[in-house]
Amino acid sequence: MDILLDNIINKFDYLKSIDDYNILKENSLYIKKNGIYLICASVFFSKNDYVINLLSIWRKEAKTFHNKFNVTAEGTRKWYKNLLLDIQDRILFFVLDEKENFIGHLGFANLCKKNNFIQIELDNVIRGEKNTKPGAMSIACKELINFAFEDLKVNEVILKTLKSNAHAVNFYKKIGFQEYDKIPLTKIFNDEGFDHKVILNNDLIPDDYFICMKLGKLK
Ligand SMILES: CC(C)(COP(=O)(O)OP(=O)(O)OC[C@H]1O[C@@H](n2cnc3c(N)ncnc32)[C@H](O)[C@@H]1OP(=O)(O)O)[C@@H](O)C(=O)NCCC(=O)NCCS
Repeated sequence: MDILLDNIINKFDYLKSIDDYNILKENSLYIKKNGIYLICASVFFSKNDYVINLLSIWRKEAKTFHNKFNVTAEGTRKWYKNLLLDIQDRILFFVLDEKENFIGHLGFANLCKKNNFIQIELDNVIRGEKNTKPGAMSIACKELINFAFEDLKVNEVILKTLKSNAHAVNFYKKIGFQEYDKIPLTKIFNDEGFDHKVILNNDLIPDDYFICMKLGKLK
């Protein structure tokens, strides 16, 4: 048991359990200046076909992720319950504009603590709606990181992105992330698409790399 980690898990648990849109909105991160809301992907949306479909479409269209598989609404519904709501240290927020249109999503996963130092990973960053509100995703990212530092008392936010995803690498650098590691990967094709695996055997020529980046709390 660790009180700092428990506080974070309890906060995630509470937000994910909200089953009423107005209460979700009251608990959202709202950036008034830019008219952007970050609303938790809670149990409320698990019953909403429109949102589940939107998540499927966005994941299908995101060609820059490390893996490609057969994305279906049914698979997304299962993912939402089993690999998002039921995973204690994972949380996702929808990015909404001032008219409450869904723009994209981003979240956190893989909470850990070493020597009183709390780290969390930025997870699942996708802009679904391409031609609206330029800057919305950077603004949402900064707000979420601020929430991690100020409210969750996290010390460092880390992330991994493919080197070939130059737009994302640049996007994160502009937010303030710095590269600290580079992990060689081999691309493995399968029936549904592909995945990338870490190269343990130095004889293989990498197909790509995970660029590992981190951002610490600004003093
Ligand atoms: C990574 C990703 C979320 C970035 O989204 P994005 O639309 O580029 O980000 P923003 O909404 O912050 O928009 C940034 C653009 O708006 C512009 N902008 C305008 N106002 C801005 C503001 N106030 N703040 C920041 N940028 C602003 C920027 O200059 C930038 O333009 P550019 O791309 O021509 O440089 C998006 O490319 C994506 O969904 N990629 C596919 C999924 C993916 O690869 N995710 C990352 C996996 S690790």
